[in-house]
Amino acid sequence: MNLYHSSTTTTTTTIFTVIFLLLAILFTLTPHKANGATCHPEEEAGLLGFKSGIRSDPSGLLSNWISGTDCCTWTGVECHYNSTRVQRLFLTGQKPETILSGTISPTLSKLKLLDGLYLINLINISGPFPNFLFQLPNLQFIYLENNNLSGRIPDNIGNLTRLDVLSLTGNRFIGPVPSSITKLTQLTQLKLGNNFLTGTVPQGIAKLVNLTYLSLEGNQLEGTIPDFFSSFTDLRILNFSYNKFSGNIPNSISSLAPKLTYLELGHNSLSGKIPDFLGKFKALDTLDLSWNKFSGTVPASFKNLTKIFNLNLSNNLLVDPFPEMNVKGIESLDLSNNSFHLGSIPKWVASSPIIFSLKLVNCGIKMRLEDFKPSETYFYDFIDLSGNEISGSAIGLVNSTEYLVGFWASGNKLKFDLGKLRFGERFKFLDLSRNWVFGKVPNSVVGLEKLNVSYNHLCGQLPKNKFPASAFVGNDCLCGSPLPPCNKA
Ligand SMILES: *[C@@H]1O[C@H](CO)[C@@H](O)[C@H](O)[C@H]1NC(C)=O
Ligand SMILES: *[C@@H]1O[C@H](CO)[C@@H](O)[C@H](O)[C@H]1NC(C)=O
Ligand SMILES: *[C@@H]1O[C@H](CO)[C@@H](O)[C@H](O)[C@H]1NC(C)=O
Ligand SMILES: *[C@@H]1O[C@H](CO)[C@@H](O)[C@H](O)[C@H]1NC(C)=O
Ligand SMILES: *[C@@H]1O[C@H](CO)[C@@H](O)[C@H](O)[C@H]1NC(C)=O
Ligand SMILES: *[C@@H]1O[C@H](CO)[C@@H](O)[C@H](O)[C@H]1NC(C)=O
Ligand SMILES: *[C@@H]1O[C@H](CO)[C@@H](O)[C@H](O)[C@H]1NC(C)=O
Ligand SMILES: *[C@@H]1O[C@H](CO)[C@@H](O)[C@H](O)[C@H]1NC(C)=O
Ligand SMILES: *[C@@H]1O[C@H](CO)[C@@H](O)[C@H](O)[C@H]1NC(C)=O
Ligand SMILES: *[C@@H]1O[C@H](CO)[C@@H](O)[C@H](O)[C@H]1NC(C)=O
Ligand SMILES: *[C@@H]1O[C@H](CO)[C@@H](O)[C@H](O)[C@H]1NC(C)=O
Repeated sequence: MNLYHSSTTTTTTTIFTVIFLLLAILFTLTPHKANGATCHPEEEAGLLGFKSGIRSDPSGLLSNWISGTDCCTWTGVECHYNSTRVQRLFLTGQKPETILSGTISPTLSKLKLLDGLYLINLINISGPFPNFLFQLPNLQFIYLENNNLSGRIPDNIGNLTRLDVLSLTGNRFIGPVPSSITKLTQLTQLKLGNNFLTGTVPQGIAKLVNLTYLSLEGNQLEGTIPDFFSSFTDLRILNFSYNKFSGNIPNSISSLAPKLTYLELGHNSLSGKIPDFLGKFKALDTLDLSWNKFSGTVPASFKNLTKIFNLNLSNNLLVDPFPEMNVKGIESLDLSNNSFHLGSIPKWVASSPIIFSLKLVNCGIKMRLEDFKPSETYFYDFIDLSGNEISGSAIGLVNSTEYLVGFWASGNKLKFDLGKLRFGERFKFLDLSRNWVFGKVPNSVVGLEKLNVSYNHLCGQLPKNKFPASAFVGNDCLCGSPLPPCNKA
């Protein structure tokens, strides 16, 4: 008891000593905060200039930006640890609360030691690329993401040679990716996605050898994907989805193995075969080649993608045989709309303990749904098995999923009593059109967001509902709004 007591006292004393020392250190290191609490007057003026460029700040994000108070304590302002000079401006919004409207005032050029400008998800910040950034010699990080900036990316962007990150993702920039970008050789991240950029990818990007993240998705870029990847030794994320790229997957992508984790080329016009070398990407987390014109078979080397979580090969021209994968836990799989004849839902799908999205539309599956016995259904959100020849009942599968959001199985041979289908609280979408489903339409479906049970063998009076007639037509004897009224027998 005594021992315990004395050791507690010792601990307490030690803690106080440590706190005292820390305070003393803080005190000596931050004299500005102790003596009057103001920051560099020029920088305060620069920040207040930024504030006056913001027309509307409904959430009061900048409400503590008040003249005469220490600007190092203002929301989003980070000063150098040992001085009163502003090092970073970091403002990030959350929809819909923190939307800022206005422009980025050039008075920010007064923050001479700024090394990072982060204006993220502010949605309604408009105007051109802020040209005053060229006057900030220390600038290393530019994150102007998900705002409403427009115009061209300046041709002399290459002057910002100290840049480590350039992200202009999610704005309205037009025109080409300037070729001077090739001078930004210290870049580790170049993110220009979700703008309106046109033209081709500058060959000079090959000089940005330290890139780990290259994303140009969601633009209108065209031409082939340059065969320049052998110069990158550290690239982890490559996202060229949603553009107009054509041609083959270039061979030099092979040199990104084994480090590459995201390869996203979906929604382009790429063609040719899926290269064998993709099987070498041992660290691949996500492979999205969907909505292109890839043809031929999926390489047998895909057996070696044992750690892949997300695989989307949908909407291409791929043919059998599909390789037997060795992946332990696929999270999302989409093989829809190719020319596969899978026969059944693959075993490596049923055995995944973490799968949340399974889309096998038009995959030539001919099985009884009862024979699909997933080892774990806890994570399932979406199941789309439309356009196959699946027979039997969906009752067991849908019932076993706790959090399913949508089940689509249009155009199969399912045959069960709709009245016995049970679904969980998050369930919103049900499409069983063009099957052999029978029974009555139960009350439980009226709260769904979307429903389609047309062209089945349902009968009886519909519960009061908000769905259009096309959701119910083509059944044996359904009646009641929106279909014609039931005959009183
Ligand atoms: C702050 O520290 C850096 C090095 O860490 C030094 O170069 C700079 O002179 C210091 N600034 C002040 C105001 O002490
Ligand atoms: C964005 O700015 C425009 C033009 O100034 C304005 O009409 C609109 O209401 C703003 N939107 C939001 C969500 O604040
Ligand atoms: C973004 O700016 C454009 C003009 O460039 C304007 O038409 C549009 O309403 C703005 N968007 C928002 C969300 O304010
Ligand atoms: C950018 O570089 C060009 C030459 O490449 C030079 O003429 C120009 O003055 C520079 N602009 C700025 C703002 O530094
Ligand atoms: C790439 O990064 C390394 C290590 O940070 C650095 O030494 C090298 O100078 C960088 N390369 C270029 C071209 O900047
Ligand atoms: C790639 O781009 C797509 C489309 O914008 C997006 O959904 C996806 O999250 C992006 N992936 C990465 C790793 O940035
Ligand atoms: C690919 O499939 C996944 C899972 O179904 C989905 O989240 C993703 O958006 C798809 N990608 C494209 C480009 O459609
Ligand atoms: C899988 O990888 C191993 C070793 O890396 C290799 O020997 C084998 O050929 C690969 N399998 C396929 C089908 O490519
Ligand atoms: C399959 O293709 C049809 C049209 O051919 C399209 O409407 C549907 O969205 C595609 N399904 C998937 C999951 O990609
Ligand atoms: C599945 O069926 C069991 C037994 O009938 C029932 O207790 C459970 O609530 C059902 N689950 C769902 C999601 O409807
Ligand atoms: C229901 O499915 C049928 C046939 O698949 C289709 O023609 C109809 O437009 C769909 N209706 C609704 C509301 O989705």
